[in-house]
Amino acid sequence: MTQALRHIRSYVRREGRMTEGQRQALEYYWHDFGIPFSREYLDLVTVFGRRAPTIMDIGTGMGDCCITIAKQHPENNYLAVEVHRPGIGSLLRQIRELNLHNIRISNHDVFEVLQYQLPPYCLDAVYIFFPDPWPKKRHFKRRLINPEFLRTLAKCLKSHGRVYIATDWKDYSESILDAFAEVPGYVNLAGEGLMAPRPYWRPVTKFERRGIKLEHKVFDLVFTYSGDESTSLKS
Ligand SMILES: C[S@@+](CC[C@H](N)C(=O)[O-])C[C@H]1O[C@@H](n2cnc3c(N)ncnc32)[C@H](O)[C@@H]1O
Repeated sequence: MTQALRHIRSYVRREGRMTEGQRQALEYYWHDFGIPFSREYLDLVTVFGRRAPTIMDIGTGMGDCCITIAKQHPENNYLAVEVHRPGIGSLLRQIRELNLHNIRISNHDVFEVLQYQLPPYCLDAVYIFFPDPWPKKRHFKRRLINPEFLRTLAKCLKSHGRVYIATDWKDYSESILDAFAEVPGYVNLAGEGLMAPRPYWRPVTKFERRGIKLEHKVFDLVFTYSGDESTSLKS
């Protein structure tokens, strides 16, 4: 019997401790802002109730960065993707407290969301801030950003869509540069092989503070997807 090939997961399922506030937010507000996973294409106009530039925040964590940016840019749609349920609870609580209308949430592996649920050419930009570093060599294969992931992401990016990444792990930042270089269509906006200046609008999060405390330097990377010819015609 043939089985579909599974990609290696970039996370370990751990429920972790959930606060009462997070649990209640999940119970009461998931229905309003959550997008259940399915293998059918989403209609983002229906999901957000409007047509607007759509930005995906991958591995949103507790949601602090997504909340800060979505509050500053009510004109954009933000799609937050996170596997960790306490993080989703925290994000939902903040969405309600701040009465934000421009965030929707997926509680599923982003690889599968990109592969099955997002229609082609739907994302204007993607944020991947402080992806799990998997610093041990034997775990490198778990790192989210690799050529296979970038090819899957490319399908969902509009022509000239942007990918913003930050990490405080030097060797990860270098392997990210290599991964982008392997996939046709991506262009490094800082110049080939170079890190980008920190985007002025990227908020400092808990993970960045942790890196700074460890005396890690933070590396920003910004790519645009020029697409192939057929992609550019469809944007
Ligand atoms: C180190 S945290 C960074 C959180 C946030 N971006 C920040 O800067 O504060 C990385 C997050 O990515 C999530 N994650 C890892 N792999 C994922 C995947 N395949 N799909 C969705 N989320 C994922 C983890 O659960 C974790 O919360």
